[in-house]
Amino acid sequence: GNRVDSLAKKWAGEKAAEYIQDGMTIGLGTGSTVYWTILKLGELISQGLQIKAIPSSVETERLAKKAGIPLTTFSEVNMLDLSIDGADEVDAMFNLIKGGGGALVREKFIDTFTRKFIVVVDESKLVSKLGSFPLPVEIIPFGWKVTCRSLAELGCTPVLRKRNDERFISDNGNYIVDCHFTGIDAPASLHSRLKQLLGVVETGLFIDVTDLVIVGKPDGVEVVSP
Ligand code: A5P
Repeated sequence: GNRVDSLAKKWAGEKAAEYIQDGMTIGLGTGSTVYWTILKLGELISQGLQIKAIPSSVETERLAKKAGIPLTTFSEVNMLDLSIDGADEVDAMFNLIKGGGGALVREKFIDTFTRKFIVVVDESKLVSKLGSFPLPVEIIPFGWKVTCRSLAELGCTPVLRKRNDERFISDNGNYIVDCHFTGIDAPASLHSRLKQLLGVVETGLFIDVTDLVIVGKPDGVEVVSP
């Protein structure tokens, strides 16, 4: 995005760090907005804040280590105190499309098994209806063409994600299919139908998990709750 865009992301990401308290175990999302939360958190830790975090991607793990954030895993932790994550779209009901960065499976773990989930976005992510952003769906490589055909039968155009002409491989060793719908009218039921397909690991629809949205704007942040 442009300079104003990235400033809005920075403000939203940094604002979220204010919700992190001593002793918490937190979930760290993925992307260019949470990036600012991670940096801020590193600063707070160097000033004495004691927390542990579970990263939602290899990329976030790398950034968190660099920032000096102590890490843990779901083998140690059943329930996080707080998770902070970005999103590709946020609708009026606070349902989300995520997975633009390909980290949706691990993100769904940290955004679901948490007492509080904060979404950090800039204004451009707010939509009245989900689905302009192609819905990322993680599928296993075996039988991927068959799985794509099943996805198409649910009314979308599935496009296997590529990066530099190679098939994109998720942190879990899977493929991502970007499903182009013409608007998603019933996100919850679409999610269940997708999940039932053989080969589908998880979808980028995050329904009913958001507790707070921090929206970065050109002139500051707005905090909204459902
Ligand atoms: C990663 O898989 C995504 O779900 C990200 O959370 C999403 O793409 C938001 O990224 P930005 O904050 O970089 O826009």
